[in-house]
Amino acid sequence: MELILRNITHSYGETEVLEGISFNLKHGEIVCIIGPSGCGKSTLLRFIGGLERPDSGEVLLAGDPPSGSLNPLTYIFQDFALLPWRTVEGNVSLVLEDHGIRGERAKAIIDDVLARTKLSDFRKALPRQLSGGMKQRVAIARALSVNPAVMLMDEPLSALDSQTRELLMDDLVELWTRERFSACYVTHNLAEAVRLGHRIIVLSRRPGRIREVVEIDMPLSERPDRIAELDRLQRQVWQIMREEARQADLEIADVA
Ligand SMILES: Nc1ncnc2c1ncn2[C@@H]1O[C@H](COP(=O)(O)OP(=O)(O)O)[C@@H](O)[C@H]1O
Ligand SMILES: [Mg+2]
Repeated sequence: MELILRNITHSYGETEVLEGISFNLKHGEIVCIIGPSGCGKSTLLRFIGGLERPDSGEVLLAGDPPSGSLNPLTYIFQDFALLPWRTVEGNVSLVLEDHGIRGERAKAIIDDVLARTKLSDFRKALPRQLSGGMKQRVAIARALSVNPAVMLMDEPLSALDSQTRELLMDDLVELWTRERFSACYVTHNLAEAVRLGHRIIVLSRRPGRIREVVEIDMPLSERPDRIAELDRLQRQVWQIMREEARQADLEIADVA
């Protein structure tokens, strides 16, 4: 299943937020969207997920959803969005209940996604008993439980410390290598973008426009060992972003 964005443009009142965003996301691809704070990244993801509609432009899904998919587009948020009074398996089962799936069928799906995210031993734990990294793994397991065509990830590692972020990046690479999931991955973190993206879409400051698209033709699994090349890529993306980020900062200072 392919995700197609055509000319997404939007304003909130007088504030132009996004302008003419078009790109395609192919099956099995991770597209990272990077841009300065406030440039419209989360807004774009809300449009893709259908939580809001843009003033103009369209979001299309072409082709068939994965077999047994309960929801073609599913979110993973920075703050994990787990229910604190539900266990790990309870948080996953909630989504399945929303789709009318209970009992043995739900248990089979829960067993499967917890195994795939290495959480099988933690199924009875409550969120407060888990580290931030583990909580985000639960959110990933929950997202996988609907067998989505595309995962919509909004700064999923931003609430984590740098070591945990590294570990989660390794987990995501391992998961992708096994399962070839598709994701639209929003971040303002260059290191994440060059580690996880097959393509990086660099947005300008608000209103977010596509400044540049950087293709990274290097297998995800090899990237940790090719640090020099990743560094170079990171610098290349930063060159594009630097002026946008600086101007965005000045505009915030103007308002303040
Ligand atoms: N529901 C809304 N109503 C009004 N303005 C909004 C709304 N959501 C976002 N904005 C504004 O749109 C701009 C982009 O926001 P956002 O998409 O959250 O940026 P990012 O995720 O890139 O930091 C910001 O200026 C923000 O204040
Ligand atoms: Mg955001």
